[in-house]
Amino acid sequence: MKRLIIEGGRELSGTINISGAKNSVVALIPASILTKGKCVIRNVPDISDVHTLIDIMKFLGSDIKYEDETLYIDNKNIKNKFIPDEYASKLRASYYFMGSLLGLFGKVDIASPGGCVIGSRPIDFHLKSFQKMGAKVSESNNEFHISSNGLKSTEVFFDVPSVGATINVMIAAVRAKGTTRILNAAREPEIVNIADFLISMGAKITGAGTGTVIIEGVTELHDGEVTVIPDRIEAGTYVIIGALLGKNLKVAGIVPEHIYSLLYKLKEMGVSYKINKDVITIKKCNNLKAVNIKTTVYPGFPTDLGQPLSTLLTQCKGESVFEETIYENRLRHVPYLNGMGANINALDKKAVISGPTKLVGRKVKATDLRAGASMLVAGMIAKGTTTVNNVEHLLRGYERIVDKLNNVGANIKLTDA
Ligand code: EPZ
Repeated sequence: MKRLIIEGGRELSGTINISGAKNSVVALIPASILTKGKCVIRNVPDISDVHTLIDIMKFLGSDIKYEDETLYIDNKNIKNKFIPDEYASKLRASYYFMGSLLGLFGKVDIASPGGCVIGSRPIDFHLKSFQKMGAKVSESNNEFHISSNGLKSTEVFFDVPSVGATINVMIAAVRAKGTTRILNAAREPEIVNIADFLISMGAKITGAGTGTVIIEGVTELHDGEVTVIPDRIEAGTYVIIGALLGKNLKVAGIVPEHIYSLLYKLKEMGVSYKINKDVITIKKCNNLKAVNIKTTVYPGFPTDLGQPLSTLLTQCKGESVFEETIYENRLRHVPYLNGMGANINALDKKAVISGPTKLVGRKVKATDLRAGASMLVAGMIAKGTTTVNNVEHLLRGYERIVDKLNNVGANIKLTDA
């Protein structure tokens, strides 16, 4: 088990460069299976989820190499094998192998996907869509067996915009006969990134990034290439840290409009920042005002930034009301923040955060990826030293986070517990 030992209160100056987006690359890698051509994926972050997916691709027979943040993939020898629990359960994104193996072979056998324990995280939208495309879905002892005589086009309407289901159906529909329409689709930037990759290999997709995605099935695909977009959640996490500790902190390599929801909230709190193309310069705000936050689908405030942001809200003057609307159980970091001195009253998916409160360093743990980010931010502003246990979660989604922060003045050690 790995832990972080963080010395609090250090001002940060310098530049943090943002890496490729975890929630994009974890779909791009399985999507490459659709083509027998060669694929190149650039700006791939060195995070544990990428290495897990590389292992699964190799297990399926892919010739995949990772050099200088670039993946070189040749899937001509890919076999359609059962993906066991030891792989599938390591991350939620393993379910993208459903879309690509179904799309290429017309069948897939895979154990249940994993993912952070932040809610029930059903995959009914995915499975119902595959059934509408003509597949037979059976589930037994935590395994999914899905088969078809070749997928056919259909029209699906998601009860709520789902990132995963939008991407999975888009992938599966690339080779399906006819034109598939996804209505009430998710609009996250990662979906556009995956669509661009599929189009580069010959897919016919329009509307990615809007509420209606249209995929016209094709029979032939060729070599594909794509550059992973910057990770907007990583960027937002460092911008939040900048609002608390920045002396003259730059966060570079971002797409500003991908984090407008955060930037507008920070402005409402009284934080000042400057944006110059893909670089934001942000400094500590000594008089943060309380605000209300409600997480929602893109382009609204992202659920993945809710946990790190709640640490910032403990420093705002007044009562902030934070409401999580995407997941049922995404406030597991709150007891640890209160244990450090915060004053948060959490009930169900809502939290009232009264501040400012002085946080004091102590032993805490990361219950999931973004809760880990919340603990990291808390340790960086707390008095004294904070130890965060179970930081494997954190390392899944933030490339070289300790180096990036120590390079701008933090004092964080990563050790084996
Ligand atoms: C993706 O998860 C991200 N993960 C999550 O990031 C992110 O929080 C989420 O999108 C929302 O933006 C990856 O991309 C790997 P959804 P995903 O399907 O696709 C319900 C992180 O911290 N739903 O958009 O699983 C679901 O329960 C992770 O990086 C169904 O009911 O999310 C949720 O309430 C955490 N049935 C809502 O939809 C389904 O079949 C949105 O989920 C699918 C989803």
